[in-house]
Amino acid sequence: MLHATPIHLENVSKSFEGSNGRLDVLDGINLDIRPGEFVSIVGPSGCGKSTLLRLVAALDTPTSGQIWLNGQPPLALRAQKEIGWMAQKPALLPWRTILDNVRLPQQVNRQASSQPSAPTESLLKMMGLADFAAAYPHTLSGGMQQRAALARTLASNAAVWLMDEPFSALDELTRQALADEMLAIWQKYRPTVLWVTHHIPEAVKLSDRLVLLTQRPSHISGIVPVDLPRPRDDTSTSFQAVVRQARTILQKGAV
Ligand SMILES: Nc1ncnc2c1ncn2[C@@H]1O[C@H](COP(=O)(O)OP(=O)(O)O)[C@@H](O)[C@H]1O
Ligand SMILES: [Mg+2]
Repeated sequence: MLHATPIHLENVSKSFEGSNGRLDVLDGINLDIRPGEFVSIVGPSGCGKSTLLRLVAALDTPTSGQIWLNGQPPLALRAQKEIGWMAQKPALLPWRTILDNVRLPQQVNRQASSQPSAPTESLLKMMGLADFAAAYPHTLSGGMQQRAALARTLASNAAVWLMDEPFSALDELTRQALADEMLAIWQKYRPTVLWVTHHIPEAVKLSDRLVLLTQRPSHISGIVPVDLPRPRDDTSTSFQAVVRQARTILQKGAV
């Protein structure tokens, strides 16, 4: 694995041409993410969070502006299997068992990787899926499929993790438990993480910084650093102060 991969976005804009004309989604995003940093992208529904992630993942290209991952275009990192991607709607391969789905990135990367990655069996256990290793995806609930997709991303030893609302189908208790496990894995392997979420407390719990987006066409309305030691107590006054700070900026960007 390529360690220490910075992400650099320079004046990135994205518009879609449709039958009703042009839809301007992202408007001049400038962002520098440090190697090994955990950054959450938070913004209103439809503002372009998934679009932004797709651009960084080289699944789409900006209308204007530049993106660099470790000084290379995103497509180069993708070709090197250094991008771990989790879509908003998890896509598991229906003909593979849960265990084989989770193992997939390790199997694909076998020759390239010299670095260890998290063992798949313990990931499945951590996700509460140990009893479902031999099951096929369609037999699992949406939340369980999402946990399996999360395990698959964590099992890849990619340098960059791009996660699109990975906890959105989970109940609150599972969400909190997985957040702690996630952090332990991130701290061990230190990929650079871009984490999209609606959930401000989740972003504050996990991230080094929150990047807040406005309504479409969206730009960055504020960046909130979270200078609290981990693990973070979400009931503490300092934690709540950061949540409030982020919420205030988001509300201003929503009008
Ligand atoms: N491929 C596409 N073609 C046309 N419009 C798109 C496409 N992808 C996204 N959009 C539009 O761009 C806007 C932002 O979408 P998205 O990035 O999914 O927002 P978010 O993830 O923040 O909810 C939405 O209005 C969506 O309909
Ligand atoms: Mg989205």
